[in-house]
Amino acid sequence: MIGVFDSGYGGLTILQQIRKVLPEYDYLYLGDNARAPYGTRSFECIYRYTLDAVSYLIRQGCGLIILACNTASAKALRTIQQHDLPLINKKMANGQKVNVLGVIRPTVEVVPSLTQTKHVGVLATPGTVASDSYRIELLKQAPDLIVTQQSCPMWVPLIEVGEHDSEGAKYFIHKYLQEIITRDPMIDTLLLGCTHYPLIKQAIDAELTSLGHPCNTIAQGEIVAHSLADYLRRHPEYETQLTRNGSCSYLTTDDADRFSTAAELFLTHPVSATRVEY
Ligand code: DGL
Repeated sequence: MIGVFDSGYGGLTILQQIRKVLPEYDYLYLGDNARAPYGTRSFECIYRYTLDAVSYLIRQGCGLIILACNTASAKALRTIQQHDLPLINKKMANGQKVNVLGVIRPTVEVVPSLTQTKHVGVLATPGTVASDSYRIELLKQAPDLIVTQQSCPMWVPLIEVGEHDSEGAKYFIHKYLQEIITRDPMIDTLLLGCTHYPLIKQAIDAELTSLGHPCNTIAQGEIVAHSLADYLRRHPEYETQLTRNGSCSYLTTDDADRFSTAAELFLTHPVSATRVEY
C-alpha cells in the first residue's frame, strides 16, 4: 500500500491527483484531524506527530508514505529520513524497505519554469514559512529567483471547520493576498504551498483579479503525482513491494462521520472513514 498522510483534509487534494495518475495501487489515507492544524505548532511537536503517523502507516503495511503536507515535509521529513528510517528499515522483515517522501522537493523542481518575471510568491502555513524551506530549495534550483513568502495562519483552520466560503474567509483571503502582492508587485506565480489551499483556489484567483493582479496560482497535486510516478519507475525496490487492487481506505484520528462528510468536499465522491488511535 501507499500511505498518504496529512494533518487533516488537505492531503486529499494530493491523493486525488495521485490516484488519477497511478490508479492501480492500493492507498491508505490518514488525516490527523484530532491534532490539526499543524501549521502553528513547534518543530518538536510537528516532528513527533508526523513520526507517530508514519510509524502507524508502516504498521498497517504501507511500503511507501507520502507526506501530503507541506508543514510536515518542511519540519519533519529530513529528520525522519535521516534518523528514523534507517532504524525502522533495519528491523523490517524479509529485507523489505520503506521510504517516506515529501511534497516540497517535487514542487520546487517545477515552479522555476513557470515564472516569466522570476518573482515567485509562496503562500503557506506559519510553520512552513518559518522553516524557510521553500526559499532555500527554490534558490537551489534557480538562484536568480526572487522568493516572497506569506504566512496565512487563518486559512487552514477555516477550511478544517468548513467555513472557507464564508465572509470571514473572504476577509482573510483578501488580507494575505494584498499583503504579498504589496511586498512584491512583480510576482507572476503564486505557489499554494499548503495542501489545503486548492480548496480555496477559485476564491484566491477571483481575489487576485479584483486586486488587479492576476497570477499563475499553482496547486501541487499534479506535480506530486507525476513526480511519484517517476520515482516508482526509478525505484523498483519499492515499486515491487506495493499491492495493486485499486483500493483506497480513509482513516482519521477524529470523528469518522465528520471526516467522511468533509472529505466529500475535497474529493467530490462519497467516502467512508474509520477512526483510529495510535
Ligand atoms: N495541509 C498542510 C500543509 O500542506 C497543513 C497544515 C496544517 O495542519 O496547518 O501544510
